[in-house]
Formats: sequence, C-alpha cells, structure tokens
Amino acid sequence: MSRLRIFDHDDPAAPLSSTEDLAEIAARLKPIGVRFEQWQANAPVQPGASPEDVMAAYRADIDRLVAENGFNSVDVVSISPDNPAKDAARAKFLDEHYHKEDEVRFFVAGSGLFSLHVGDRVYEIRCEAGDLVGVPDGTTHWFDMGPEPSFIAIRFFTEADGWVGHFTGTDIARRFPRYEPGQAG
Ligand SMILES: [Fe+2]
Repeated sequence: MSRLRIFDHDDPAAPLSSTEDLAEIAARLKPIGVRFEQWQANAPVQPGASPEDVMAAYRADIDRLVAENGFNSVDVVSISPDNPAKDAARAKFLDEHYHKEDEVRFFVAGSGLFSLHVGDRVYEIRCEAGDLVGVPDGTTHWFDMGPEPSFIAIRFFTEADGWVGHFTGTDIARRFPRYEPGQAG
C-alpha cells in the first residue's frame, strides 16, 4: 500500500508518524507543495503495453494536468528487474538532489520510494500503482526504485533539459531507509 512516513531529519530510526490513508497522505503533503492523487485507468493496461496505449488509458487525467501546469512533454518510462542497467538506474538519483522544474510522476504499475527533505523533516512516500506525485522545483529529495526495480511511470516535463539533478553533496539519503519492497511494516 501507499504510505507516508515523516521523520525528524536527524532521526532516521523512528518515524514521527506513519499513515497509509490516501486522503491523509495528500493532506500532509499539501502544505509543502507536493501534489499526491490517485488516477484510474479508463482502459486496462496490459504488461508490455506501448507508451501510446499507456497514455491513452490515462488521457483525461494527463490532459487535465498538462492544462493546469503547462507541461510541454509527457513520456512513459519503465524498468524491470531483468534490466542489465538496473543498478546504474537505481544509483542515479539515490543521493539528495533537486531539480529546477517539478518532478511529476504517475505510477502506472510497480512502486518506488520518494524521500523529500523539507526543513527539519523527511517525508518518505512509498508510491504504488495509481499514485501521482508532484515534487515542486527546488525541493531537495532522493528516489529509490529498490534492488529489483519494477515500475511503469508517466513523466511530465516543462523544459527539454529541465530535469537535471543538482546534487547537494550531503549524506542524508544514506542515513535514511532504502527501498526494500515486501518488507514488513
Ligand atoms: Fe529527482
């Protein structure tokens, strides 16, 4: 299930709060400018579906988000555990960084862990299929797809080169939990 845990940024051992309630997750993320919502496909998405078919299944929501935010491009990215480049893909955004445009992702299938560092808090969001998450530009964060990455995601971009990671050089991401799908709790 989707889950939000909030930590003090100096204490990765014990979350201050944890919830799997979707409305509560959205309400707790809204004050830090993070969009969190659920989309329903208007047609079944089969494994191996083309990017066009994936986007067609969520066309109404995609069009609404693009109209609201002025995104200029949308694409579909996927990774599976048999990808020979999975370790490099996982490593790419594992350390704390930010972007100069919003990082907006819809999880069509699979899951991943976004951790946002805002003030003295870390907001750890476990995103599952059906979740849309929008991280505002400038918000420091990291993303872990786990050791056996598996997801299909729709991505939204404003600038062709906007989604460059600017790394902060801190070690905070290494002190917080990594993504281990299937773990208890
Ligand atoms: Fe990022």
